Parts: sequence; C-alpha cells; structure tokens
Amino acid sequence: MTLLDDLAATRDGRLLSPDRNLAMELVRATEAAAIGASSWVGRGRKEDADGAAVDAMRAFLGTVAFDGTVVIGEGEKDHAPMLFNGEGVGTGDGPACDIAVDPIDGTSLTATGRPGALSVIAVSDRGSMYDPSAVFYMDKLAAGPEARGVVDLGQSVGDNIRELARALRKPVSDVRVAVLDRPRHEGLIDEIRTAGAGTRLLSDGDVGGGIDAARRGSPIDLCMGIGGTPEGIITACAIKALGGVLQGRLAPRDEAEAKRARDAGHDLTRILGLDDLVAGDNTYFVATGVTGGELLRGVERTPDVIRTESVVLRSASGTVRRISAEHVPEKW
Ligand code: FBP
Repeated sequence: MTLLDDLAATRDGRLLSPDRNLAMELVRATEAAAIGASSWVGRGRKEDADGAAVDAMRAFLGTVAFDGTVVIGEGEKDHAPMLFNGEGVGTGDGPACDIAVDPIDGTSLTATGRPGALSVIAVSDRGSMYDPSAVFYMDKLAAGPEARGVVDLGQSVGDNIRELARALRKPVSDVRVAVLDRPRHEGLIDEIRTAGAGTRLLSDGDVGGGIDAARRGSPIDLCMGIGGTPEGIITACAIKALGGVLQGRLAPRDEAEAKRARDAGHDLTRILGLDDLVAGDNTYFVATGVTGGELLRGVERTPDVIRTESVVLRSASGTVRRISAEHVPEKW
C-alpha cells in the first residue's frame, strides 16, 4: 500500500487525509515570545520581560490563518494594550477559535533567572473554553493517564496518593507531588509528607507543573494545590492531548469573591473536569521554554545562534512533538 492509499482510507464513507495542525504554526509565536523575553532573564524587571514577550507573540500571531478571539489574555482592554480579553487575533481566515495566551508563565522566574518559565498558547473551538473571570484561583489536581478514575479532588490527599501509587505500581515513598511553594499550601504539604510521598516545590509556574504530572517520563506524578484559574484552563488544553487527569474547583479569595461567583451562578463545591474546563476534542497547546526546566530547555543565546525548545500538543491526534529550533540572530 502506498502512502497515498493509506491516507485515502475511509471512515464512515468519508475520505480521511491528514488535516492541518494549527499548533505547528502557533509555535512560532511562543518561540518569538520566549526569545523576546530571554534578553530580560535575571534582570529583575518582570514588566519589561512580559512586555517583550507580548509584543513578539502578538506580531507572530497576526500571521496565522485563523479567526482567534483571546479569552484568556493580558487582562481587560483598558489595562492591556495588546492581547487583551476579547481581542481578535490571526488573519481572520480559517477556523473560529478561542485562544488563551500566557506570553510568560513565570514572570518572576524570568526576572530572577530561576528555572521553569514558559511561553504558552492554548487554542480550542470557539466558545469551548470555561470563562475564568469568576474567581481568580482554583484548587487543582493534575496527573497522567494511569490516574484516570483513580484520583479525585473529592478524596483526601492521602487516599489520592495511595491509590495513585497502586495504579503506578510503585511505593508511596516514590510518588512525587508538585506544589506551588506558598504559605496557603502548608497544610497540603504536610498531608503529602504524612502520607509518605515527597514534594517538588515550585516557586512559580503550575502550567509546567501540571504538564509534568501528566506527561510520560517525568519525575512528577501529581500536581496539586491552588493556582490561577486561567492557568488551569490552559493546562486542561494540554492534558486533553496527553490523556491525563485535570480537575479544578473554584477557590475564592474572600467572601466577596465567593458571593460574586455564586450570584453569577457558579457552584463553588463543584469539581470541574477536563470537559468542563475545555469542551470538545479539538485542543492545541504549544509552549516554548524561556528559562530551562523539567519540561523544556530555556532559550540559549550565543553570538551565532539562538536555540529554542518547544512542545506541541494536539488532542485530536494525541501527538506530542518536541521542536528544537536554531534561529539566526542577525535575521531575527
Ligand atoms: P505569572 O507568571 O503570571 O506571575 O504566573 C505564575 C504563577 O505561578 C502561575 O503559574 C500560577 O497559577 C499562579 O502564578 C499562582 O499565583 P500566586 O503567585 O498568586 O500564588
């Protein structure tokens, strides 16, 4: 059978041929953002790093043939000159999509020169992403495919760890749980260690932490704790492609935020699953390392070459691609 015969295989009488992978084009925008931010790594200036990443990402997004609406961006129009929520991006031709951008997840990591900062874009069909505006934080739990039907935010931390260890066929003492290193997580960290597992404390960046928990070959088995709601939705787009678990429950900061959310119709006890956070099976996720970490190498600059490493995920195929690129500094 030739390759063409293979491509012409039919399903339900429809011709099947490989379709476009939008993420392969979007990766240029995260590469550009990461390179833009890289000259600010370790220089203590978060805003400058973020501004460089936003400018570069927006310029490259404008070249991609799709009709994108930013649903998770740099904030509201009056406060964010670019990539604000509601802004249209792309050429306007092609599929109508929701787009979530985080030009740098880990602005403090970038400013301080610590590992784990990523430039990130997630895309899904128009209207399919959960609206993150109700509550700033969400209690999250992320894990890999073996954890499906095994872990649940409704169970105790200890039960989740023990059940996961059984599913992964390893001792509880080998289970590693990523948690943002925050005072609010003191109790959670105690519970993890009391259960016999170990922690990987993240100073920032729970998008990378969630993906590390879900992907094969990572030393992280689980990512837990309270982090940004927008970051949870972006992570959901990645985990749809990786086939793992992501659950979230809104975690209001105070009673006023809780009341606003309840008045808007949110059930604060509800555990949101992957399909609640992003509906359908057509998600794309791309990330490029800004500073090197568990998931990706950071931008490396020499006088002759700028190297980037990216990961490209697509839920429809489940393909995980790693893209190493060498950029020519004088053409950049
Ligand atoms: P920024 O890069 O936008 O600052 O976000 C980094 C981050 O660590 C996210 O990954 C995480 O979801 C969130 O901040 C946690 O918020 P906080 O720092 O308030 O605990």
